[in-house]
Amino acid sequence: MSTAVVATVSPARRVRGRVRVPGDKSISHRYALIAALAEGRSRITNFAPGADCHSTLACLRRLGIESHEDTSGVITLMGRGLGRFRSPVEPLDAGNSGTTMRLLAGLLAGQGFVSRLVGDASLSRRPMRRIIEPLERMGGRVEATDGHAPLTIHGAPLRGMIHRFEVPSAQVKSAVLLAGLHADGSTTVVEPAQTRDHTERALVTFGADITTHGAAVSVAGHRALTAQRLSIPGDFSSAAFWMVAAAALPGSRVEIEDVGLNPTRTALVGVLQRYGARVLVEVTGLEAGEPRGTILVESDRIGTVEISPEEVPGLIDELPAIAALAAHGGEVSVCGAAELRVKESDRIAALVAGFRSLGIAADERPDGFVVSGPAAGAWHISTDSVDASTSSDHQGSSSGGTADARGDHRMAMAFAIAALAGRAPSRILGADSVAISYPSFFDTLDRLVA
Ligand code: S3P
Repeated sequence: MSTAVVATVSPARRVRGRVRVPGDKSISHRYALIAALAEGRSRITNFAPGADCHSTLACLRRLGIESHEDTSGVITLMGRGLGRFRSPVEPLDAGNSGTTMRLLAGLLAGQGFVSRLVGDASLSRRPMRRIIEPLERMGGRVEATDGHAPLTIHGAPLRGMIHRFEVPSAQVKSAVLLAGLHADGSTTVVEPAQTRDHTERALVTFGADITTHGAAVSVAGHRALTAQRLSIPGDFSSAAFWMVAAAALPGSRVEIEDVGLNPTRTALVGVLQRYGARVLVEVTGLEAGEPRGTILVESDRIGTVEISPEEVPGLIDELPAIAALAAHGGEVSVCGAAELRVKESDRIAALVAGFRSLGIAADERPDGFVVSGPAAGAWHISTDSVDASTSSDHQGSSSGGTADARGDHRMAMAFAIAALAGRAPSRILGADSVAISYPSFFDTLDRLVA
C-alpha cells in the first residue's frame, strides 16, 4: 500500500459519543471460507467492509464460489461442498491479508488440484513455514521461497494428525483445523496459549464435529457442512481505538454498541481498568456462539501498564492501540511480543519510529517496547520531521510531527489516537491503510472529537 495519502489529526480535548464499528474481520473471513465448503446458500449480515475480507471473497470467486454483496454489507454466498472447489485458472491474490493466505492454504491442501497463493509486498515478507510444515505432515505439498509467499499448493488426500505448535497463533490453528475437514480421521491441534477461537465456534455452527479438551481441539474429517444465516458483531479490535481514546482523554465518554465480546478477544478491558479508566461491559446477545453487547468507557485516572508475555496472545492486535495510551500520560511497557515484528509491518520498529517522530518518548526492546508519556501536561512535538511543503491543504502546521504508518492499518489508527494528545496537528503518512479493516475510521474520529 502506498504511503502517499496523508491525514492530519488535530489535538482533541476529549472524545464523546456512541459508535458502531465495522463487522469483525476475523469472523468475516471464517464465515466466508466455511460457507464456501457448506452445502447451499449462506447469508451473512454486517460482513467486514475492509479490503482484507474482500480479498477472501475474491479468492473464493476464483475457486468457483459465487457471492453477492448488497449495499448494506449483506453477503450471500453459494457453497459448493467439501472438496468441490473449482481449479483456479489464475493465482489467488490474498492482498495484505495473512488470515486469507493462511486459512485458505488449509482449505486448498485437501482439494484435487494445484493452486497458487500470492500477496502484496508486506504479506510476501511474513512467515509461512508455520503452516507449511503441518499441512505437509498431513499429506499436502506446499512450495514456497524460503518459507514465504507466493505459495504453490499441491492438493492431495490428507490424513488427520495431532499438531502441537510453538507460537500461539489462531491463524495456524485455523489452517490446520480447516485442512482437517478434508482429512481422513481426526485432526487435533494443541496450542501453547489460548488464541481467538472463532474458527472452533464457527465450525460448530456450520455442523462440523468438533471436540475440545483443555488446550486441544479436534475436528473429524469428511463431515458435510450446512449453509447458515449469520450476523457478524462489530470488531472489538476496531473498537479498541475508541476505547483507548476514551480512557486517555480527560472528560471522555464513548459507548460502543453491538460489538463482539468473545472472551478470547476482550483482554483490553482489564488493561484499561488497570490504567485507571472506568469500563462497563454488557452482554446483550449470543449468535452462532459469539457473544456481543455494549462497551462503555469513561476516563478517570492515568496510570502505568505493564503487559506480560502471558497476556500477549489475548492482546496481539490491540498492542498498537495500548501503546497510544501512554502518548497521553503514564507509561506502557510490553514484553514477550516478538510476534509484532512479523505482522503487516514490523510493528515494534514502526511504532517506536512513529511515536518518536510525533515527539513521544518510545524505546524498542527485542520483543516489545516502552512508551512514556509526559508526567503532566501535553507532550512536545518534534519539528525536525516535518515536510512543510506538502502541508498546505491540511490543517497541519510546521509545528506538527509526521508519523509513517508503513502501510499498516493498525499503525495508522494508533498514531491518530496518539496525535489527539499533541499541542499541534500531526500528520500520518499512509493513512489510506485504514481501508484494510476500518474504511470509515477518520470519519468516526471527526465525529467523536467534535
Ligand atoms: C487473526 C489472528 C492473529 C491476528 C490477526 C487475525 C485471525 O494473527 O494478529 O490480525 O483472524 O486468526 P496470528 O494468528 O498470526 O497471531
